[in-house]
Amino acid sequence: METVLSGIRPTGNLHIGNYFGAVKNFLKLQENYNSYFFIADFHSLTTHPTPADLHNNVKYVLAEYLACGLDPEKATLYVQSDVPEIPEMYLLMNMNAYIGELERTTTFKDKIRKQPDNVNAGLLTYPVLMATDILIHRAKYVPVGKDQEQNLEMARKFGKRFNHMYNVDLFPEPTAFNFGEQLVKVPGLDGSGKMGKSEGNAVYLIDEPKVIEKKVMRAVTDSGPTQMNQEKPEAIQNLFTIMNIVSEKGTHDFFNEKYNNCEIRYGDMKKQLAKDIIAFTSPLREQILEIAADDAYLHKVVTMGAEKARESASKTLKEVRKAVGFRRF
Ligand code: TYM
Repeated sequence: METVLSGIRPTGNLHIGNYFGAVKNFLKLQENYNSYFFIADFHSLTTHPTPADLHNNVKYVLAEYLACGLDPEKATLYVQSDVPEIPEMYLLMNMNAYIGELERTTTFKDKIRKQPDNVNAGLLTYPVLMATDILIHRAKYVPVGKDQEQNLEMARKFGKRFNHMYNVDLFPEPTAFNFGEQLVKVPGLDGSGKMGKSEGNAVYLIDEPKVIEKKVMRAVTDSGPTQMNQEKPEAIQNLFTIMNIVSEKGTHDFFNEKYNNCEIRYGDMKKQLAKDIIAFTSPLREQILEIAADDAYLHKVVTMGAEKARESASKTLKEVRKAVGFRRF
């Protein structure tokens, strides 16, 4: 059976970008694939969270995954730092990753722009750790959003390089996966770019309805179109993109037609959008809170997940150690 894997950094709560970019696809895949879904807590150390925040974020992301419908009986649901095989393989993979190619990664350049006072080595080797996450389970499909495309490219490169260097056929080529469609990029509410935890432009699954309403009503718009069928400026297009993802097709088309006829009232559109987002998030929110309060259940889920993940990871690591030449005397 082919393997599917995806992960998320616990640097804050899950937002609708995470859901529609990655989690939604994973939910479908867990039914028919050998599936791994994990919380990338090693990765989140690059931003230096406080220990208390880190723990709390891991707990909430776990509860959010479960509330969204990730089934720990079907998928292997684990916390990255519970699998010591990952850092060992990461060390080995680092030996075959070159500084030049890592420095050229767009995500690295972005990160140094965002945190110029904390350009740590973990940021540079982030794609190696991510490749390790994927390769250690020999995953073939990786349901992720568009922002992860380049990291996937690197994972393919490192896997192929390893196979070639040691003349083995250990790693399949992992591909970013969205059922044959373009990868998704959910824009933020601030008129530009993508929805992100650190951008202050996100709607979280756990947000209260009132908060969602406020955020959506404050979203950037303009004074409206002045010509029929005029091209939409970025901020407006973003609102339509979010509506296209969250609302019924008919709702999106209705407001699109209003826009094209220069009859759009952004206030009405935003009210509708807020309503549709709330209809989607409200039941999840209740579930999240309920699950997050159940420590015994969370403990059971991660314990079971770690065991299953380690079983698969240790098989690959054994092969990797053998390939590079580590032998017992
Ligand atoms: P992270 O934590 O930034 O995001 C988790 C997932 O959500 C997707 N995503 C989005 N999709 C569409 N629109 C958006 N606005 C949006 N924002 C986030 C991301 O594409 C991702 O799929 N490096 C990864 C975590 C990771 C990982 C892995 C993923 C570590 N190891 C191995 C897959 C496989 C990250 O930072 O995702």
